[in-house]
Amino acid sequence: MSKLPRWREEWSLNIDVIDQEHRALIERLADLCLRFCPEATPTRSGGANALIDALAELGELARTHFQHEERFMRAIGFEELPEHQREHALMMAEYTALLREWRAEGVTVLTPVIQETVREWLLAHILGTDREFARAYFQLCGGDDRLVPRPSRDLHLG
Ligand SMILES: [Fe+2]
Repeated sequence: MSKLPRWREEWSLNIDVIDQEHRALIERLADLCLRFCPEATPTRSGGANALIDALAELGELARTHFQHEERFMRAIGFEELPEHQREHALMMAEYTALLREWRAEGVTVLTPVIQETVREWLLAHILGTDREFARAYFQLCGGDDRLVPRPSRDLHLG
């Protein structure tokens, strides 16, 4: 079986409400891997569109998460909210395009390539823009931004 994506504590921003949702997104991807990986073929349930539907649900979970983050940013008066909103919109457009592609190809198996694409899509958000936000958040709160791990090129690999 392909390697299951697993949450890593070093991905935490130390903002519980956000970390919990990020963890839920990674766990949802792991669940999809178990249900739709190539080795699951004999026991795979659902119709021809089951994988696409499940991937679409993951996208909706991410969309809801982005909305929660934007509400959180608004509540604390975060000035860079518009940039984050744009980034979230771009990410959703990218995911919608991927879904369209996978639907057109009629994919029914979560190949390692698709798994990695979704994982990278999620991690670009978790380890990219959200880290920038967390740093600003702790500065805004007068907290210690050292709580937020520094980005590392190798942090999300493997
Ligand atoms: Fe996030």
